[in-house]
Amino acid sequence: NIAVAKPPLTIRLCGPRGFCAGVDRAIQIVVLALKAYGAPVYVRHEIVHNRYVVEGLEAKGAVFVEELDEIPEQHRQQPVVFSAHGVPKSVPADATARNLFYLDATCPLVSKVHKQAMRHQRLGRHVVLIGHAGHPEVIGTMGQLPEGTVSLIDTIEDAETYIPEDPDNLGYVTQTTLSVDDTAGVISKLQERFPNLHAPAADSICYATTNRQEAVKQAAPGCDLFIVVGAPNSSNSKRLVEVALKAGAARSMLVQRASEIDWETIGEIRTLGLSAGASAPEVIVNEIIESFRARYDAAVELADTVEENEHFLVNRELRNIELTHE
Ligand code: F3S
Repeated sequence: NIAVAKPPLTIRLCGPRGFCAGVDRAIQIVVLALKAYGAPVYVRHEIVHNRYVVEGLEAKGAVFVEELDEIPEQHRQQPVVFSAHGVPKSVPADATARNLFYLDATCPLVSKVHKQAMRHQRLGRHVVLIGHAGHPEVIGTMGQLPEGTVSLIDTIEDAETYIPEDPDNLGYVTQTTLSVDDTAGVISKLQERFPNLHAPAADSICYATTNRQEAVKQAAPGCDLFIVVGAPNSSNSKRLVEVALKAGAARSMLVQRASEIDWETIGEIRTLGLSAGASAPEVIVNEIIESFRARYDAAVELADTVEENEHFLVNRELRNIELTHE
């Protein structure tokens, strides 16, 4: 009975990581709506980009749809929740036209970007939105303004080639979950080409994105592998994978569940960096740590940067439910 010693491993666990205040609020809204109005509660689009969260809410009676016309006639009196990413103005308008009762779970920090975009427009500026084409947040932000009044800049190449109608009358906003460093590059390129470009009154990239990237940046140097817990459609999680690599991790990857890890390819590692995107629950972080503990003599080292105290209130309609039931 010869015990084989497990190889030693240091796990650098980044903080802050995982759920942000906007994701936490969005999930609470669905849970409270289920308590207040009973199942089914409809949710337009994945409430946050995480299968585990979505399946957990489905088990409680949430029904996910992509468009409002998927809500069956007989359930029209049940609430429909709009996801944390935000929606174009046409969506609440459509819900009202269909006589639906909706609860908007758009993150307040996304709403703030919407307001900044509208402010630029009110001041007669053409809006430049820096963000990733096709992401629901980008669709939502573009949809705050009439078609054709927002130009999307996705890459530094876009910033180099963009030809505005009136180069002296531009105002920009960004998606909340972009790479802090890449976005700074895009903005300075635009500023160089259009010196009169107006900035938003406050930064569009949110505190959670900024803090998670900064923590990864500090922990990544010297890591043989860096794992970010998150979904392939989660913008902020994908950015963390890139940040880890740029900051000096030898390899980095996105993992949704421990079962996804291909142990054959992990190879010899001494130091593992670990973080989680803003929509990834802590249980999965623990699951990943345990799966490494099963194979390595692992010691977890906390790599904390700043403390976060943000908390966003749920919609007015649900506040009493929260007080009486929780
Ligand atoms: Fe909001 Fe930022 Fe989270 S915009 S949903 S706090 S990642």
